[in-house]
Amino acid sequence: MKIKSKVLIIAGSDSSGGAGIQADIKSVTSLGSYAMTAITAVTAQNTTGVMSIIPMHSKEISNQIEFTSKDIRPDSVKIGMLYSTEVINSVLKSIKISKLKKIILDPVMVAKGGTKLIDNKAILVLKKELIKKVDLITPNIPEAEILTKIKIKSITDMKNAAKILLDLGAKNVLIKGGHLRSKNLKDIFVNKKEIAIFSNKRIDTKNTHGTGCTLSSAIATYYGCGKTLKKSCELGIRYVNNAIKTRPNFGKGNGPINHLNSFNIEKKFR
Ligand SMILES: Nc1ncnc2c1ncn2[C@@H]1O[C@H](COP(=O)(O)OP(=O)(O)OP(=O)(O)O)[C@@H](O)[C@H]1O
Ligand SMILES: [Mg+2]
Repeated sequence: MKIKSKVLIIAGSDSSGGAGIQADIKSVTSLGSYAMTAITAVTAQNTTGVMSIIPMHSKEISNQIEFTSKDIRPDSVKIGMLYSTEVINSVLKSIKISKLKKIILDPVMVAKGGTKLIDNKAILVLKKELIKKVDLITPNIPEAEILTKIKIKSITDMKNAAKILLDLGAKNVLIKGGHLRSKNLKDIFVNKKEIAIFSNKRIDTKNTHGTGCTLSSAIATYYGCGKTLKKSCELGIRYVNNAIKTRPNFGKGNGPINHLNSFNIEKKFR
């Protein structure tokens, strides 16, 4: 099988393998592309929660991004857990130095079990600076609430939040509906010209560890292969949906999804 594209992942490690860098590598690989990584933090966690987090030194994160990209040029980039202001500033600097393009930002803030994965000052820098430098931001509902300071309880609220994020300088926004308690889950893609709503039946399971990480890596993969952002979101959502449907049921808590269910990229794109 010919490798279709090269994706750089900037994110934290999840020792349980269901989310974070591990989920990202599995998704990119399963979709036929080549994954490179810059690790921002190492977490000890399992499906029941996070035990500890050790952040990487910000200079070391920049080294990973710049030294890797200088040699193997990424077609797209996925950014996940950033943890602190220093890390965001280093990533911003490295995006510029390495001239990184096609960037998807998953603004990870809280793990499924409730552990905070970013500090408050860092959220401000993300909102004021990083948001403008990426092509797509993919907040879930609690993250969109923190970034926009509005309560989100309906599709109209999701649309309003997306508009606020566009006003803050985001180019494209995908607000994920996994946290709304509805029978049909709706993810909303918005930019200044278009809006698309992707709707799926809620699958009744507690095994959704890493759905957000998996989705943003899948989107980055499709985008790096030449699909439009809207199409990449549609295909990424379908990949995650199939991965939830075929979940392996591992662990005692929120178990992982099945990254191995690949949803191929047609040849004409690569
Ligand atoms: N129970 C479910 N059934 C079907 N689709 C789901 C379910 N839960 C989440 N999804 C889908 O998974 C994707 C990720 O959404 P979600 O809101 O779970 O992200 P997230 O909260 O960032 O995930 P994570 O907790 O891994 O960070 C979306 O496309 C969402 O619609
Ligand atoms: Mg998430």
